[in-house]
Amino acid sequence: MADQYSDFINTPFGKNVAKRLGLPAPVRLRRYEPGQILCESPVLVAGTGSYVASVRTLLTNAAVSVVDSLEELGDGRLGGVVLDLSDARHPSDLAALRELGAPAVKRLGRNARVVVIGTDHTQLTDPVQVATQRALDGFTRSLAKELRAGATANLVLGPVSEGEVSEQARANVGEAVRFFLSGRSAFVDGQPVRVSSAAAQANPSVDRPLDGQVAVVTGAARGIGAAIARTLHRDGATVVCVDVPAAGEALAQVAGEVGGTALQLDVTAEDAGRRILDHARGRHGGLDIVVHNAGITRDKLFVNMDESRWDSVMAVNLASIVQMNEALLGPDGLGDGGRMVCLSSQSGFAGNRGQTNYSATKAAIIGLVGALAPQVAERGITVNGVAPGLIETEMTGKMPFATREAARRLSSLQQGGLPVDVADTIAWLVQPASAGVTGQVVRVCGQNMIGA
Ligand SMILES: NC(=O)c1ccc[n+]([C@@H]2O[C@H](COP(=O)([O-])OP(=O)(O)OC[C@H]3O[C@@H](n4cnc5c(N)ncnc54)[C@H](O)[C@@H]3O)[C@@H](O)[C@H]2O)c1
Repeated sequence: MADQYSDFINTPFGKNVAKRLGLPAPVRLRRYEPGQILCESPVLVAGTGSYVASVRTLLTNAAVSVVDSLEELGDGRLGGVVLDLSDARHPSDLAALRELGAPAVKRLGRNARVVVIGTDHTQLTDPVQVATQRALDGFTRSLAKELRAGATANLVLGPVSEGEVSEQARANVGEAVRFFLSGRSAFVDGQPVRVSSAAAQANPSVDRPLDGQVAVVTGAARGIGAAIARTLHRDGATVVCVDVPAAGEALAQVAGEVGGTALQLDVTAEDAGRRILDHARGRHGGLDIVVHNAGITRDKLFVNMDESRWDSVMAVNLASIVQMNEALLGPDGLGDGGRMVCLSSQSGFAGNRGQTNYSATKAAIIGLVGALAPQVAERGITVNGVAPGLIETEMTGKMPFATREAARRLSSLQQGGLPVDVADTIAWLVQPASAGVTGQVVRVCGQNMIGA
């Protein structure tokens, strides 16, 4: 669905009109492309936490120039700011946020990135320490709402460590920082991600991090699913594309485009999980990544909700995943180091008028992901969710004009996302190097205020 307002505002005349009338001015977001430099240079890395040195090294290795102070910057603009406050343990330590952050934020360029590094407060017990670290969450969410011109702010929470932070924790936190600095996170804004020190394999390469992996994507014939299939293929994976027989033609086209295989299958079938495993093993020799993307909406106010609307949404969006997972996460399912991502939705967090059935299933996914993750952690399998906000697809093309327009503009990035934004977040979560992120749901919503 074309965003004509955004197209207009990005013409010289449109820019002028927006400025004079104080209208929202969405900018074209900097999205990931293979071979692209990680983020614009230079990046200011500041703070006294444990990750400052490793983040500097990461950036230098990615050919991004690093400055330690604004004096070093001269007259230029910053591509990003990384503020490491992982060692803050007392409210007085928070002064550094303003002292280091405020002058730097003034110097941000277009599509710049702010990444705050903290410590996972859910692992702390001292109330003062918990409060201090929790402050970073409110700070980052508010800052994200203030930034303009495509800039985002996100929070990476490293693990609590006894003494020195481990090399693995540094590497895992580094991977999350890398995601938030990159174009892959273009539509992720104001979000916290917790990172553990779980053992992780390095990605085989920067441009093809999924080389050698076999992935299955359900609902791959169109919309977000098709974008996920294309993105995982771009990143090196062999993709099995699943959709209902009625979408067979579009499915075959996507599968052909990505050099994968098509599997016509209704995910609500009793043997769906088994059939996916058999197909992936038979045709591609294994299965490493599962993306449960297939989903439907059957909206109606609750008082008018009929049985068929209720039951079909429950069956496709929730019951099918629970059922398929018996096979996919069973002893004969995903191997060690496997990855699973389930599609939730902003409605699962915030609810939505007319979507009691849909929101129930999407909230259920948040619960499912959180509870499954520890059960399979020993096998090195991660289970995460992604919750899109307004993404421009056929599904949202059917929304009433005024609702869609409000949803687009009332987000920090003042626009809807693209299917590729969801796909790139998933592509990051399923990388071998993302082993430190599990049991979480990352919102890909441009910090939509309607779903706050
Ligand atoms: N578009 C958005 O803004 C948005 C927002 C939040 C969440 N989501 C979620 O993202 C996912 C994809 O959404 P989309 O906008 O691309 O939807 P879409 O309707 O464009 O595509 C969904 C695909 O799933 C397939 N599908 C439906 N039922 C199936 C079944 N029983 N078995 C196999 N395949 C089936 C459809 O044929 C279709 O190809 C869904 O889970 C949706 O709930 C989308």
